[in-house]
Order: sequence, then C-alpha cells, then structure tokens
Amino acid sequence: MSLEQTLNDDEKLAELTLEELQQLVGLVDYDASQDPFPVSGWDALVWVVGNATQTAHFFQSAYGMDLVAYSGPETGNHDHHAFVLTSGAARFVVTGAYDPGSPLADHHRRHGDGIVDIALAVPDVDRCARHAAATGATVLEAPHDLTDQHGTVRLAAIATYGETRHTLVDRSRYRGPYLPGYVARSSTFVRRPGAPARLFQAIDHVVGNVELGAMDTWVAFYNRVMGFTNMAEFVGADIATDYSALMSKVVSSGNHRVKFPLNEPAAGRKKSQIDEYLEFYGGPGAQHVALATNDILGTVDALRTEGVIFLATPDSYYEDPALRARIGDVRVPIGELQSRGILVDRDEDGYLLQVFTKPLGDRPTVFFELIERHGSLGFGIGNFKALFQAIEREQELRGNF
Ligand SMILES: [Fe+2]
Repeated sequence: MSLEQTLNDDEKLAELTLEELQQLVGLVDYDASQDPFPVSGWDALVWVVGNATQTAHFFQSAYGMDLVAYSGPETGNHDHHAFVLTSGAARFVVTGAYDPGSPLADHHRRHGDGIVDIALAVPDVDRCARHAAATGATVLEAPHDLTDQHGTVRLAAIATYGETRHTLVDRSRYRGPYLPGYVARSSTFVRRPGAPARLFQAIDHVVGNVELGAMDTWVAFYNRVMGFTNMAEFVGADIATDYSALMSKVVSSGNHRVKFPLNEPAAGRKKSQIDEYLEFYGGPGAQHVALATNDILGTVDALRTEGVIFLATPDSYYEDPALRARIGDVRVPIGELQSRGILVDRDEDGYLLQVFTKPLGDRPTVFFELIERHGSLGFGIGNFKALFQAIEREQELRGNF
C-alpha cells in the first residue's frame, strides 16, 4: 500500500496533504501485503461521559471541533445521546446515557468519563477478525454489515485492555455522516472572531495504562493479534523521578499512523501516576490522547483563551543549560515555549514540541497532549522526568501522592 493510497476519505475531506500527514503524525511507507492485520488508520475515539450534551459543547467551544452527526431520542435512540465531532482527520463520538437503565450509565458509574472504543479503520474487517480470533483475541462482535440509505458499513469488534475495545470499521462503501442510525447535524456554536479554523488536525497516539506486570502481555497482544511492531522502549529508570516511576513500551501499526504507548506502574517511593489512574478509572484504560497540530503555539493560545488548563512546566526546565544543549535549534525562541509551558524533545530524526492538559473530567484520569512533530518519531522521552515532576505536584495537591 503506497502512502498516497493510505490517505483516507476523512483526511481528503480535511484537505490534509500527504506531506502534512507525514510531518504531523510521522507516517512511514510499508508493505501491507505482508501484514496479517492491515490497519489504515484511526476511525474514531468513542467516549462515555456523564453529560454528553455538555461534553460535546466543550469539544466544540474549547477544542474547536465541528459537530457532524447525532443520534439520540429524537432519532429513535432512546438509550443514549451520541454526538460525532471532527477536527481535521480526527473523529470523536461522545456518548452519554439517556435511559437511566442504559449500560452506559453503569459504565460511567464505574469508570467516570473515558474512552471505551478506539475504533480503527481497516480495509478488510473479515480478514482482521479471523486473524484476531486465530491468535487468541476476544471477538466481541463478529463481522457484520450495517446498512441504510447511505450505503453499508462493515464492522467487527475485539476486546483490549480493561473494558476498552477496538471496533474495526470498513466504511469504503458508506457515504453517510457516521454510521447507520446517525443523522447529519451541524454545529450551532459560533466561534470567536479571529479564532483558528482548526486547533488540531489528527490523532497521533493513544496511551493505555495497564496494571503492574501487564504491559508486556499487552505489547505481545498487539504484536501477535494486530501485527503491530515495537517502536521504542522506555523502561525503569528512563521514566522515574525520585519518588515515582513507570514503564512504557510503544507499539504501532505498519504505517505508524496508529501508535499505542502502553504504561504500567513501577515501584517508587510514592504512588505512581499510573496507580492513581488505575484506582480512579477502576482498572486499565486510555490515559491520554495526543492531538497532532501544525501550530502548537497558536493552538495553546486558543485553548487558553477558552479556559483550558495545561500542566505547568517549571522555569528551571527552560533555564537548564543541558536542555538547550540537548534540543539545539527549534523553530521558535525558547521564551515562546516557556511562556506556554511547551516541552521540547529531540532525537536522531528531529524534534517535537508537546504539552499536556489537566484531566478532562472530574476524576484524575484521561487528558490530552498536543504534539507538533518536526521529524522526530518519538514520544518525548527526554521530557518524561520534567513532566512527571509536574504531574506529581498535581497529585500532591489532590492528596494522592
Ligand atoms: Fe503522549
């Protein structure tokens, strides 16, 4: 599969060029014919939240997303509301219980706001589901069609860590706004004059937090079931402060469009941020979503204007002569990064700029990262220590450290 062929309809609609995508998410060429489980990209991140009506508004008003489709009681869905939002090639589906007896209400009671489905675009649902079953994955939904007047979508679903799933989606024969059962709906939210048209263009990676001792099991799962390869390996002291630590390994799809860092807690003198997540989410789950932007300064400024709060980075991070030596030349003066708390990391391929928000909901669980890549295919290993110290200050304020 050439890179050009991997550009999906959403990306074409978002007017992203191949070069932009390569730069944004570190896309690489690869031979899909040898891949037992070809994945072309992300389909959607499906959230369960306590109030989908308001979260959908928040993703529009603060994160600049566009409402494109809807399902709810007015469309015959008496179980829940579902709002489909996009930003460039990224698609979120925000769901919340309407019926008090909805399974979504139980899910939310257990986990709070979070991501339940990391849906992936695959060209051949049946082939993937067959391979998943043959390699020991739990197939939650066998391959099946959903059809309406806009065409047919083929779907299957497999289980991953915790109560998270991967729905496998082939929408190549479908022209509707999302899935059968959804109606097109546009945003009633009016952007501020001068606000950027789009604050992020794509999903870069989704991080999973799993229990102590489970990381290698899930790395092996993605290797065996989905043919993902190991991208980078961060272990032990690589990601440790004086007080807490974690272990992290990264697996990715052949074209690097879908990247899954997997974290587990490591022993430290105090409670790890991963332990805090596992306690408050009630088990393994998606920890953060990295949103790719080609203008992290403008994005951070726009998000701050809307009241989004980022983790603070200590001034000492920017004043450290070792940092300046490590990162070399980047496209903006360090002062511009410092005033926004943006972190920099460099590896042999280039550099990246990144910044992390506070948790999105009431529990100290899921949050966003913004990432602007300039050649680097990494995840900011050089920043982990600075980042963790910032997270630890937050944990301490919550009394969980
Ligand atoms: Fe990340």
